[in-house]
Amino acid sequence: MKIVLLSDIHIGSKKNVPGRTPVDCLRAAVRHVLDKNADADHCILLGDLTDTGADAEYAVLRDALAPLPMPCHMIIGNHDEREAFKRAFPDAPVDADGYVQQVFDAGAFQFLLLDTYWPGHGGGILDGGRLDWLNDQLTASDKPCLVFLHHPPFDSGVPGFEALRLQDRPALRSVIAEHGAKVAALFSGHCHMTVSATVAGRPAFGMRSLFYQINQDFEDPALKGSDTAPPAYGVVLIDGTDLTVHSVDFDLT
Ligand SMILES: [Fe+2]
Repeated sequence: MKIVLLSDIHIGSKKNVPGRTPVDCLRAAVRHVLDKNADADHCILLGDLTDTGADAEYAVLRDALAPLPMPCHMIIGNHDEREAFKRAFPDAPVDADGYVQQVFDAGAFQFLLLDTYWPGHGGGILDGGRLDWLNDQLTASDKPCLVFLHHPPFDSGVPGFEALRLQDRPALRSVIAEHGAKVAALFSGHCHMTVSATVAGRPAFGMRSLFYQINQDFEDPALKGSDTAPPAYGVVLIDGTDLTVHSVDFDLT
């Protein structure tokens, strides 16, 4: 089984990255997926789909994703807007409380998609019963689970992200620790960099942005974007319950 991960697209961003715009990057990524990974079983978008959550940005996103043949599942990030997302994708699953959370079954795994959106903040949060939802899904599942969320469940070590962190990291860690190996792995975006970690002993992977990368500076408190690091998307190869995680660079031509 193969999964494609698209993260931090930021449709509508005016950020000046020489030679690229978010929509050019998304269209190039879709072309690359169609050329090299059209056999993927699912595509998961890891949030920051748009830059400001405007309806027009979601319309551009929807059109650019249309050529992908596999099911696309989406979560939202701090740059999104939950109600605008729901207007643009009225068929996207939400949980009983209206959060953009869903569970689906594929291969040896249950896929759990979490909503860490915290209106008005760059960081994330799992209040309003969202952590309970995760705990309930993990308890109910008779399969190992892959968990997807925009904000990393770990400290990246890049100080600029501390103000933008997931507020509930300790509580999330406790839920993961309680379920142990049933949490097979976690995948996140937000940091615009390739980073791997463990959380309560479980593997966690942070993915690069489809648009621009952020410098891995462990001293500078200010986040700085790279003008040259290439855009990338993730490919997860699944053999039974074994995972191999790739970050795939692509160019815009
Ligand atoms: Fe983000």
